[in-house]
Amino acid sequence: MKYQFGVIGAGSIARKRHLPELLDNPHVKIAAICDANLSRAKEMTSLYGGKAFSDYRDLIALKKLDAVIVCATNTTHAEMTIAALEAGKHVLCEKPMATTLADARAMIETAERCGKFLMIAHNQRLAPACVKAREILRSGKLGKVLTFQTVFGHPGCEYWAIDAGRTWFFNKQVAGLGVMGDLGIHKIDLVRWMLEDEFCEAAAMAGTLGKVDADGNQISVEDNALCLFKTRKGVIGTVTVSWTYQKEDNSTIFYCEKGVLRIYAHPEYQLIVDYSDTEGEYHKVGEIPTNVKQVKSGIVDLFVDSLMNNKPPEITGEDGYKALEAVMACFEAVASKRVVSIG
Ligand SMILES: NC(=O)c1ccc[n+]([C@@H]2O[C@H](COP(=O)([O-])OP(=O)(O)OC[C@H]3O[C@@H](n4cnc5c(N)ncnc54)[C@H](O)[C@@H]3O)[C@@H](O)[C@H]2O)c1
Repeated sequence: MKYQFGVIGAGSIARKRHLPELLDNPHVKIAAICDANLSRAKEMTSLYGGKAFSDYRDLIALKKLDAVIVCATNTTHAEMTIAALEAGKHVLCEKPMATTLADARAMIETAERCGKFLMIAHNQRLAPACVKAREILRSGKLGKVLTFQTVFGHPGCEYWAIDAGRTWFFNKQVAGLGVMGDLGIHKIDLVRWMLEDEFCEAAAMAGTLGKVDADGNQISVEDNALCLFKTRKGVIGTVTVSWTYQKEDNSTIFYCEKGVLRIYAHPEYQLIVDYSDTEGEYHKVGEIPTNVKQVKSGIVDLFVDSLMNNKPPEITGEDGYKALEAVMACFEAVASKRVVSIG
């Protein structure tokens, strides 16, 4: 049996990740693709098959669909996800899962009420060096993590998104959140997962330092942020995000009692385990998808695996909520210039 999939949003992430990864999965049939810009949906159905729609409600009305990937603009995620769940579809929703915590909670509750799976596309957890690094942390070889620093910066969404110079990512009305909701949320999820811990306090500074829109006006969301977090287990660390780094940085470093774990922090060795008393171990374990080079993320396979085995998704709505909650705490910290409690 093949799972019939619909994809809502035929922009960059659908083109570079979801559609190729759906095509690559032997248990999937791409049955429908929707974009508010119908020609984009048609362009994709001509490559991948299925029926093209411009209104997502027509797509989710298709009885044969088992599952939907929601990958349109941020502020549409909650409405589309809730409608798809209520129409009896399982949903893989892109990050940020929503732009308000109330919407995120409503998505989780709808999935529970409808008995359908909701998974959030926090794909960084699946990158090979992150998987291996977590195993090392779990083994206890490095002792406890004391501090961390994680960075996600690239030149900006205008080099990624389908509308390039006029991208919605820079418009608060449509994006809801700026670089913290776009890149910070990835790193917050990654660190929560790697540490098996929750963030409990946040402090932050953020600003619009470099980006202007196609008309030369400063964009309406932040393009840089530096956030400080404390976890319930007492780990402290920084999450630094930027849309103005001229070269991509996607690195995460854990400073532990017995050494340092460096993830995607070296151009050749994706994982370096630097024990305090021996030579470092340099591992080539596989790349992480970047804006300039997409490697398979594995997110579609993980979602399909959960459908096939009827087991709840590994990256849950609650995970998406927790990451969004930490982002919201940072916004509050920026506005109040205070340390904010989370949860
Ligand atoms: N997981 C990741 O690494 C990752 C990477 C990039 C983007 N994303 C997320 O994926 C989502 C899409 O980002 P993108 O980079 O593809 O943006 P994009 O601008 O390239 O594409 C978005 C598409 O959505 C369409 N759209 C907008 N409103 C719509 C509606 N109401 N109905 C149907 N289609 C609609 C637009 O016409 C556009 O084609 C965002 O939420 C973004 O944060 C995730």
